[in-house]
Amino acid sequence: MANLQGKRIILGITGSIAAYKAAMLTRLFIKAGAEVQVLMTPGSTQFISPLTLSTLSKRPVYTQVTSEESWNSHVELGLWADAMVVAPLTANTLAKMAHGICDNIITATYLSARCPVFFAPAMDLDMWTHPSTAENVERLRLFGNYLIEVGTGELASGLVGAGRMAEPEAIVSTLGRYFRKADTLHGRRILITAGPTHEPIDPVRFIGNHSTGKMGIALAEEAAARGAQVHLVLGPSALATQHPRIELQRVQTAGEMHEAALSVFPGCDAAIFSAAVADYRPAQPAEQKIKKSAEALSLDLVKNPDIAADLGQRKTAGQYTVGFALETQDAEANALRKLERKNMDLIVLNTLEDEGAGFQHDTNKVSLLRKDNKKRSFELKPKREVAADILDELQELAAWKKDGL
Ligand code: PMT
Repeated sequence: MANLQGKRIILGITGSIAAYKAAMLTRLFIKAGAEVQVLMTPGSTQFISPLTLSTLSKRPVYTQVTSEESWNSHVELGLWADAMVVAPLTANTLAKMAHGICDNIITATYLSARCPVFFAPAMDLDMWTHPSTAENVERLRLFGNYLIEVGTGELASGLVGAGRMAEPEAIVSTLGRYFRKADTLHGRRILITAGPTHEPIDPVRFIGNHSTGKMGIALAEEAAARGAQVHLVLGPSALATQHPRIELQRVQTAGEMHEAALSVFPGCDAAIFSAAVADYRPAQPAEQKIKKSAEALSLDLVKNPDIAADLGQRKTAGQYTVGFALETQDAEANALRKLERKNMDLIVLNTLEDEGAGFQHDTNKVSLLRKDNKKRSFELKPKREVAADILDELQELAAWKKDGL
């Protein structure tokens, strides 16, 4: 049974047949020790009565931003809560949340909420598999909200497939897990390298690679959510991240990334190297754009500093380093060689042979290989969840706190 003692939870209920499960969800939250403030869209009141939910939550239920008696301050609600859960979430409210539309008490509170937001979609199979729904789910996730995956089975329409709301027990245990991890990295400082590096050939060209920075940003966000102070050194990436505990430093080249990492590492408890760093750079970048003339052009390349190897040599007792290995063949053997050579404590192996893994995807499929020969392999999952698995492993091997409640 999850422990949510003293946690304040906003439960937003939207107009899906799965709204009937919200009564059980409210009951379970209360049993786990939480205070629950229920918000309902007018549509959802057709499926379940506000009276049922106010009786279970022992609080008035808000269905409007304004009522005859009062203005229900969505801003105050957003500040009051430790978590907001929208369950069930219809395709309609999902689309509104994904695009900042704010026309009812739930969407208004969502936009003001400073707490983590969890969403449990519920809809028919075809609506769930529609590309616009997939895009909206992705937008919400990328805004830092937590998707509670839909279940598969018989749906209210009679169709069989994915789209039904996660069971109330699963939703409660997701929140229980979240709060259990919430402060486990409090007081820790973590350095993360992420993204590609660009090594200039001339003022308009560079040597680079396909890394977007998604994996490293997911790690930074998960570590910050667990209470760590994060220094994120990010190579050229179109992405950004915002969190009061993430210090974001943007760099271009491997040399700059090395220098940035070197300067903060002495004060860190761990470093995680998710960046795809160019191993070589042009020896003499041209000062002017290289003109097309000869049939062939050769570039002289020199080796870049190996940041992970350098910091692996410098680490002192109590400091841990975690590397990545992106492989295309002999994956495990190559990863183990890197673990050894770079004096890492843990290496995260991902291979381009796995569909949906590695560069650019929002998902990854990894194996975690430890210096003490322990190995764990995971299925394909969102990069944020991969980040959680990596941090769990780091916390275990470093014998740091794993549970916060
Ligand atoms: O950014 P995304 O689009 O989300 O993609 C994520 C990713 C595929 C880039 C990521 O999951 C990943 O695998 N990162 C490491 C890629 C890589 O360069 O691996 P490698 O096997 O070449 O390097 C081994 C380790 O040494 C890595 O931890 C790397 O950061 C580090 N290294 C390598 C070279 C170098 N000069 N300095 C380093 O620190």
